[in-house]
Amino acid sequence: MSLVKKRKLEHLDICAKQDVEEGSTWLEHVRFVHNSLTSVNLNEVDTKTKLLGKELRAPLVISAMTGGVDEAGKINKELASVAEELGIGFGVGSQRAMIETPELWKTYYVRDEAPSTLILGNIGAVNNYTTNQVEDTMKKIKADAMCIHLNPAQELAQPEGDVDFSGCLKNIKEAAKALPVVAKETGNGLSKENALLLKSAGVKAIDVGGYGGTSWVKVEKLRNGASHTPIDWGIPTAASIIECQVGLPIIATGGIRSGLDVAKAIALGADAAGVALPVLRWYYEGGKVRVKENLEEWIKELKDVMVLTNSSNIAELKRTDIVVSGPLLEWCNERGVKQRKHI
Ligand SMILES: Cc1cc2nc3c(=O)[nH]c(=O)nc-3n(C[C@H](O)[C@H](O)[C@H](O)COP(=O)(O)O)c2cc1C
Repeated sequence: MSLVKKRKLEHLDICAKQDVEEGSTWLEHVRFVHNSLTSVNLNEVDTKTKLLGKELRAPLVISAMTGGVDEAGKINKELASVAEELGIGFGVGSQRAMIETPELWKTYYVRDEAPSTLILGNIGAVNNYTTNQVEDTMKKIKADAMCIHLNPAQELAQPEGDVDFSGCLKNIKEAAKALPVVAKETGNGLSKENALLLKSAGVKAIDVGGYGGTSWVKVEKLRNGASHTPIDWGIPTAASIIECQVGLPIIATGGIRSGLDVAKAIALGADAAGVALPVLRWYYEGGKVRVKENLEEWIKELKDVMVLTNSSNIAELKRTDIVVSGPLLEWCNERGVKQRKHI
């Protein structure tokens, strides 16, 4: 079995069974202003939104996790069918395995299960594939856009990691000339300076992949023992959403764990929230049925929050008042960054 395949299986196993989360998203330092005089009818709350040209029935994306082995192919197909049923987005895991072994494309192909879903392909910026390779990889699985992931902390924590990051921005820039690119962190967050560079590189959206959820440094430490990369490292998701307000659509991934978290991410300036680890665990507990039930619970909670903030649709939720406090407020002051609605 190739190293890439072996690593994929180990990642799934460690993430399913061990404590792989670290730190805090700082979403606990965001509070809505409760509105007792709400005039919104719960039955008419509209959670629809548009992302990368496709309509989502709720502002949610199942984030990139897997592909490249048979077991992963089954997981991708079942999770994508849940995304189709709920009208939310779906991202496949890194397609590196299928560039190395082309017949593995089937383990990422979910278009038949999810004909109308926003499907995101995935590849690492550090892998230095040509734009043609990246474009073929996206087209082969009929994805709508390509996530190009940035994961320097994870690569550093892997004994076999790619540690030459000198081509990453150039690779993104080249790809963005030919196809719709989403620049995506994987758990350490993106800063305002990063977001501005990515915007000028031509990306169509940013997935902040903030700190406070799954920690890939921790996963790699569990897999390999020693590594010198600090685990407590990264920009918490709430701070990263605020940092990345540069006029591009934002997906807020990293430690999103409830419908309330989704609502907070949107009120901070995200256009959709992404979730990975909980979905994997629900899947292993109770298959696609459990995944669907739990995501439906999140959407119900999001709707309740919308009623309690007098928001009848996502545009209104984005404008609703929140109070930011504690370290998140200090971070914003120190960094000179503000929520989108206050710019
Ligand atoms: C098992 C697993 C595999 C992942 N594989 C990828 C990947 O191949 N490419 C990628 O961009 N992100 C990958 N991620 C990162 C997630 O897409 C997400 O950014 C990160 O886990 C933070 O979200 P969470 O806290 O909800 O898990 C993976 C996450 C998990 C849990």
